[in-house]
Amino acid sequence: MRVLSGPSSVKLAENISLELKTPLIKAQFKRFPDGEFYFRLLEDVKNEDILVVQSLPPPQDQHILELIYIVETCRELEARKITVYTPYLAYSRQDRRYLSGEAVSSRILAETLQRAGVSELYTVDIHNLGVLSYYRIPAYNLTAADEIMRYFLSKGVEKPLVVAPDDEEAALKRAEVAAKAVGTDYDWFEKKRDRYTGEIVTAEKTLNVSGRDAVIIDDIISTGGTAANAARILKKQGARRVYVGVTHALLAENALERLREAGIEEVVGTDSIPGPVSNITTAPIIARKLKPI
Ligand code: R5P
Repeated sequence: MRVLSGPSSVKLAENISLELKTPLIKAQFKRFPDGEFYFRLLEDVKNEDILVVQSLPPPQDQHILELIYIVETCRELEARKITVYTPYLAYSRQDRRYLSGEAVSSRILAETLQRAGVSELYTVDIHNLGVLSYYRIPAYNLTAADEIMRYFLSKGVEKPLVVAPDDEEAALKRAEVAAKAVGTDYDWFEKKRDRYTGEIVTAEKTLNVSGRDAVIIDDIISTGGTAANAARILKKQGARRVYVGVTHALLAENALERLREAGIEEVVGTDSIPGPVSNITTAPIIARKLKPI
């Protein structure tokens, strides 16, 4: 399998090619002065198995279009199999028509990627596992929860309580994996978000956190409201230090400031969304999956 980097994930693709011990496919991409995208493969991909690495952080639509150009080009030039690794699969929160007339964005994206020629897809900590059922090709979800916990342990966090900030099935599973990875326990809060105003309400629930460190594990930080609510409750219940580990640190609006104000010691994310807190690489996670045993 050869690795081909998309513009959004250059460093990540380099890390994956090192992990897999296979050189990157040479390609050129640039923007014309008017903003249009240009992509050119500089190597023959005929009959090759290709791993295209392109996460879909903001600006999501731009990165989606780049991915489509890359995949279609590989398909037209007769690559044998096109595996896409997109650790942040954008639009996974709009998985159905919550309000009448809405676009079902995750299904539209699935259809578009499949039409372009994707043979199989890997993502990480997808917001809603149900989205993968929109893919007729093999589509897999991996998790970064264990890598995140190992990061915190290496930073001196001690026997923390792992906390899911809501009780969605995926959030509970993630917290369970995170806790198991470092031999500790986990618990969760219940949260509601108003679909019209976006306001988040977290129900208070007593957790076994007094005098202990706590790590809030989530898939996404967008505005930071969810994690800030959980952190305030944990602090109120006597948590020693509160940390936040997320796979996709979108950090919309003034999320980092909001989290600091809630008393959080450190926020860490992965390279699914390159940015100020993306200190964990997901390269070993996909490499472990793809490396021949
Ligand atoms: C929601 O269910 C997700 O798991 C995240 O908790 C949510 O997307 C975070 O959003 P925000 O940072 O805006 O509260």
